[in-house]
Order: sequence, then structure tokens, then C-alpha cells
Amino acid sequence: MSKIEIRNVTKRYGSATVVDNVSMSVEKGSITVVVGTSGSGKSTLMRMINRLVPITEGQIFVGGQNIMDVPATELRRKIGYAIQGHGLFPHRTVAQNIATVPQLLGWDAARTDSRVTELLGLFNLDPATFAEKYPHQLSGGQQQRVGVARALAAEPELLLMDEPFGALDPVIRGKAQDDLLAIQKQFGTTVVLVTHDMDEAFHLGNQIAVMSEGKLLQCSTPEKILTEPSDPFVQQLTGTSDRALKLMSLTPLKDSMEPAKSGLPYSLAQSLNLRDALAEMIWQGVDEAAVQDANKAAVGSISMNRLIELGRKA
Ligand SMILES: Nc1ncnc2c1ncn2[C@@H]1O[C@H](COP(=O)(O)OP(=O)(O)OP(=O)(O)O)[C@@H](O)[C@H]1O
Ligand SMILES: [Mg+2]
Repeated sequence: MSKIEIRNVTKRYGSATVVDNVSMSVEKGSITVVVGTSGSGKSTLMRMINRLVPITEGQIFVGGQNIMDVPATELRRKIGYAIQGHGLFPHRTVAQNIATVPQLLGWDAARTDSRVTELLGLFNLDPATFAEKYPHQLSGGQQQRVGVARALAAEPELLLMDEPFGALDPVIRGKAQDDLLAIQKQFGTTVVLVTHDMDEAFHLGNQIAVMSEGKLLQCSTPEKILTEPSDPFVQQLTGTSDRALKLMSLTPLKDSMEPAKSGLPYSLAQSLNLRDALAEMIWQGVDEAAVQDANKAAVGSISMNRLIELGRKA
């Protein structure tokens, strides 16, 4: 229902072309992360999807339907939107902010309240402390979490997130990312997310879209972006120095292990990715380790040499 098709979309302000003939599709239930320098048109592209910015040329389809055939207000109620810099309503409490779309959709009070409480809990904001506070009484990171909770409130099939985790400290940020992944998996939500953080892009994206000066330079899987960058800018953006480690972070240990062996002094969980496995082996000072499943049964082994081989350019 919520696949997105962007076809030859251009946005001009006067003589300035800020989004230039962009085409891409986002599969239902997948996450596309949009990256690129400041002013490259990321927010504009995203805001055309929910008609906050009118398209100059081209078409966008959501769930097979041309967005111009859906009234803008109806479209926006179906699409969750977390705005760059949070965009909370200053004169509404945290609970009222989160309840905005459920109220527009006519949910009853009990259902709305329980959803608000659930979301506050999910984002580590104690309802007793935060529900009745106003946005100016919260820290930047807390406001940002409320903004994301508001976007998720009506369980939208499609979620647009413009730098939703920018103001969060690394620990909360990691947790917010994992929460988003869990929510996205549970509900099969289609997500388009803008970020400046390439680690975030690789952690979250099924697909990464790289923009520069209004143009879409490349839109492909994280692996392809790393191993087959279509343009020097894409290569530069993904960082030349730690490409090997980024690539390793995309591969689960369980897909790359060797046969199980007895007598290994140290064990790793098969749910680790190759980068974390390497880091753990360096830290523990072991050249070879057993690999265990969730029940601590040995299912394989991994050696330092094998890990280094796996991180080499194919
Ligand atoms: N309403 C507007 N009128 C004129 N120009 C605009 C308008 N909105 C955006 N622009 C211009 O369009 C370009 C793209 O802006 P956009 O906000 O999409 O960039 P961005 O990639 O999201 O940047 P950032 O990473 O800084 O958020 C910029 O040069 C901006 O100045
Ligand atoms: Mg922006």
C-alpha cells in the first residue's frame, strides 16, 4: 500500500533548481536513508512526498496513487512526519502534541491516552513526569523524542523523518535507532529518513540515496554504495579510511563463520556483525573464537585471519 515512486521530480524556486529530475522508488516496508551535503535538497524532496512543498515537474505515487489525486490534509494524516528540529506545538503539552493525529482521526480518548502513554514509555519519557510538560520545559533531545513519538502516534504506514535523531547523545541515539528498527519491523512501516550521520545511514538503511546539488547521485544498497560508488562524491562521503570496517558491520557473523572446533578459549554470539566480532577479538587478545547461538550451543568458529580476509576489497 505504501510503496513510494518518485518519477522525474524537479523543484525550482525562481531560477534555482533545488531538486533536479530525481527518480527513485522505496519498497513497502523498507527504510531508505537520504544523505548529502547541506542544501542538497534532501528536506525539499521529502516535503514533496507529503505535499508540504509543491512539485514543479514530475510525479510522486504513494501506494500506486498519484499524490495530487489525494487531498493534501488526508495525505498528511496517513503519513507520519518528524520534522527537522522537532517542530512541536509550543502551546500544547507533550501528551497533546503526541495526540495530534489520533485526535484528527477521531480516536476516542481512552485509545488516544493509552497510545500516548505507550509511546512515552517507548522513548524513555516517564509519563508522570513528562505528559503535562510544555516543549520549552524539555531538553533538545527530549523534544526530539516527543517529535518522533508524535510522528508514530497513529501507526502510519509511511513515515518521513528529517534528521530525527540529530540532537540525541550517542547512547540515546543508538537506542532510538534500535527502537525505530523494532517498530518498523513490527508494523512493516515504510520509512524515508534524512541524516548527516553515515553510520546511522548504514545502520538503518535498506537503501541509501546520496544527493548533491539537487541531483540524486546514487540510490542503492549500503553494500553497493561502499563497494561500487557511482561517483567520487559518493566515495568521499562514505569515507575512504574505514570502508572495510563499515562493510564488515553490514555482515552478520553467522553468515561467515567456519566449522565448529573444540577447545577454543573464547566464544562470540553469532548475532554479532563482523566488525564487532573483530573488535571483541582484539580486545580479548584471541586469534580464534567459537561462535555460539542464542542457547550458547557452539555452531561454528571464526579466526582473525578469516575476518581480515572478509574485510578486504573483493
Ligand atoms: N522556500 C524556499 N525558497 C527558496 N529556496 C528554498 C526554499 N526552501 C529551500 N530552498 C533552497 O533549496 C535548497 C535545498 O534546501 P533543503 O532544505 O532541501 O536542503 P537540505 O539538503 O535539507 O539541507 P540541510 O542538510 O541543511 O537540512 C537550499 O539551497 C535552500 O536554500
Ligand atoms: Mg534539511
